[in-house]
Amino acid sequence: MSDDSVNVRPQAGPDKPAFLGAMRHFVGSVSVITVGQGDELSGLVVTSAISLSADPPLVLVCVNRNSSSWPLLERHGVFGVNALAAHHQPVAERFSGFGGAKGAARYDGAAWVTATTGAQLLADAPVALDCTVEEMIDRATHSIVIGRVQAIRAAQPQDGLIYWHGAYRGLRA
Ligand SMILES: Cc1cc2nc3c(=O)[nH]c(=O)nc-3n(C[C@H](O)[C@H](O)[C@H](O)COP(=O)(O)O)c2cc1C
Repeated sequence: MSDDSVNVRPQAGPDKPAFLGAMRHFVGSVSVITVGQGDELSGLVVTSAISLSADPPLVLVCVNRNSSSWPLLERHGVFGVNALAAHHQPVAERFSGFGGAKGAARYDGAAWVTATTGAQLLADAPVALDCTVEEMIDRATHSIVIGRVQAIRAAQPQDGLIYWHGAYRGLRA
């Protein structure tokens, strides 16, 4: 079994371009996952953050094990899930690595607050979740990260940010 196929049985199916082409039709909600503490910060934009259960309050997000965020998730065990508003597209772009921003530089240009766990939360996010890592399950190239929501930081309702057919789009409230 190769490194790229952890716990995944090889089987026939669509090739990668066909799969990626199919996934473009799914409407993705855009979130920023913040990871690390102190000077050791990174994070990534994701469309894979969703609710897992309400009781207990759990979320899950799929994180590429080759990303700069993955080792920080393992080491610090806390993360923030920040829903993005339409006006946060530049934040989303920085956290995708677009323009070359890396590590703590991805936090430039926006205001952040430090949550109880130490996770960084976007000050004016529609909502942000302060999470501890409950479990990381390796599958193929990614880890399925299960987070326990320790606190919820709510701001005001705003237009949403979605990703669809390869582009960001604002969603009217
Ligand atoms: C709209 C969008 C959604 C993304 N969703 C995910 C995701 O769910 N999981 C993931 O690991 N990477 C996702 N990515 C890619 C990461 O944001 C990107 O690879 C990461 O920020 C760069 O990793 P680095 O920190 O190693 O530079 C997404 C990118 C975009 C533009």
